[in-house]
Amino acid sequence: KLNVDTRAKGTKVGPDLYGVFYEDINHAADGGLYAELVQNRSFEFNATDERSYTGLTAWSKAERGATATLAVAGEEPLNPQNRNYLRVDVTGDGTAGAVNAGFNRGLPLKAGRRYDLSLWARRTEPGPLTVTAEDGTSVLGKATLQVKAGGWAKYAASFTASGTTDAGRLVVQAPAGRTDLDMVSLFPRDTYKGRRNGMRADLAKLIADLEPQFLRFPGGCVTNVGTYDPYAGNQDRRRIYQWKETIGPVEERPANFNFWGYNQSYGIGYYEYFQFAEDVGAEALPVLSVGVNGCGENRPLTDEAKLARWVQDTLDLIEFANGPVTSVWGAKRAAMGHPKPFGLDYIGLGNEEIYPEFFTNYPKFADAIRARYPKIKIISNSGQTSQGAWFDRMWQFARDQKADLVDEHYYNNPDWFLANNHRYDSYDRTGPKVFVGEYASRGNALSNALAEASYLTGIERNADVVELASYAPLLANVDYVDWTPDLIWFDNDEAYGTPNYHVQRLFSTNVGDRVLPSTFEGETAPVADISGAIGLGAWNTQVRYDDVKVTSADGTVLLSDDFAAGAGAWTPGAGTWAVQDGAYVQTAQVEDARSTAGSAEWSNYTMEVTARKTAGAEG
Ligand code: AHR
Repeated sequence: KLNVDTRAKGTKVGPDLYGVFYEDINHAADGGLYAELVQNRSFEFNATDERSYTGLTAWSKAERGATATLAVAGEEPLNPQNRNYLRVDVTGDGTAGAVNAGFNRGLPLKAGRRYDLSLWARRTEPGPLTVTAEDGTSVLGKATLQVKAGGWAKYAASFTASGTTDAGRLVVQAPAGRTDLDMVSLFPRDTYKGRRNGMRADLAKLIADLEPQFLRFPGGCVTNVGTYDPYAGNQDRRRIYQWKETIGPVEERPANFNFWGYNQSYGIGYYEYFQFAEDVGAEALPVLSVGVNGCGENRPLTDEAKLARWVQDTLDLIEFANGPVTSVWGAKRAAMGHPKPFGLDYIGLGNEEIYPEFFTNYPKFADAIRARYPKIKIISNSGQTSQGAWFDRMWQFARDQKADLVDEHYYNNPDWFLANNHRYDSYDRTGPKVFVGEYASRGNALSNALAEASYLTGIERNADVVELASYAPLLANVDYVDWTPDLIWFDNDEAYGTPNYHVQRLFSTNVGDRVLPSTFEGETAPVADISGAIGLGAWNTQVRYDDVKVTSADGTVLLSDDFAAGAGAWTPGAGTWAVQDGAYVQTAQVEDARSTAGSAEWSNYTMEVTARKTAGAEG
């Protein structure tokens, strides 16, 4: 029997409770949500970033009678932000050129669907370029571009595919002579809401079907790890995410190598995120770095002049989102096609920066925002619950700073979610509200989804203190997995929502106004109380381990540290515990799911962990 107290006032559920956390992880943008079908369209892939990359990644030769030499060149580039291009030298009769293999298996092409092709070209002699979309045996679409003699110019055409494949190729052929090519691009016309430079419709629809009230972006660790200077032809292995580099004409956005170990084109940039949020009925919720790296890398920005630029960039972002068209940045938004302000309400400052420099830098940003835009709600962060004492320290700092919200992150076993339904019952109602910005039980099985559903009832019951909540991560390309579990999985032409997705959807599309007190009488299935348990599966909240040693199969020591130092993204496996010399010692198989955390060498290793919890240690 379910007893609901219909006379009680209940807890008011805020209008923004359910949203999504989008991060460019698992190739979520290029080869994912971003509908561009050509991989490495601007030839910026570089071995400095990733050993397997070359400027010709995803490109190869196409010789149709004539002979081609392909080279990535850099003299007189398209513009200073786009330094590399493809130089095709063709000799002989017939045509020759280059083939792009797309992402995953290849370009998905569908009979009857319209495709928009564009490229920048330069030739000394005029001549036609033939561009075909092929499936290995047949031409499914064709366009001819008449290239004039002279400098760089953009050429565009469109075609309707005559056949269907999920492993297509795009072939660009030139006549004899030299042709320089850049920004070779192919989009399906039917992007989500028909936006140019838009989003892949099936993935966008899955997201829209969640009816998210906010879209947190662009990360995660993708937001705040890297060097700080803007692109200046420098081939820094990884520049920190800088929003100004991601707006304006796509050919002027410098590509970057991201935290998750792959090249990002910034084809989806800040304008597209704002636009996409609006298209799915959500508020944009950007997260910016405050000049402190996070996610295991401590690289603080201490130079005051540089920091001042970062503060200014943050203010400029708010103007870009909300300023009138007469303002400098509002005018840029209008020029990109959106004169109306986007209506930004929230801004996230930082993501998992468990370093003292966060305490130094954050106030500079928060104070400047408060002074200029007092209505914007500022979200500080607490790092992951697994970060032990730092989590509490970060929370206290946010309270002292009078942040509006605190972004909490946790990835735990389903049992933890069942046992912690009451987590927020005792949270302070007078301080900052909670943004559960990242959470997931570790798996995409039905049991995980049920544990999350159970947990969400606790979140709703505490909706007076939990203002926002989003599962993480949102998207994963089956062929490029940095992190599991994820809400939505896809390849180049198919996508599905996990059981966890359907739980999110069930809750987010059925939000009540108030949660009334209720009790249940009758048989209930037992819910394990694991609050006192010890084990890798429970480390996020219950246990903090010191002196952890991680060794690979050949005995090499990969890590010798403690978990509080930020080693926390591993999938726990079955383990055994024994008490030895007054300490608990666990041996377990774990897999490092965060391929670039700390050291790339850990990527996808299965490691044996011996963790020792000394008597009396925290937890
Ligand atoms: O959601 C995956 C990662 O988990 C995020 O990038 C980061 O914030 C957290 O460590």
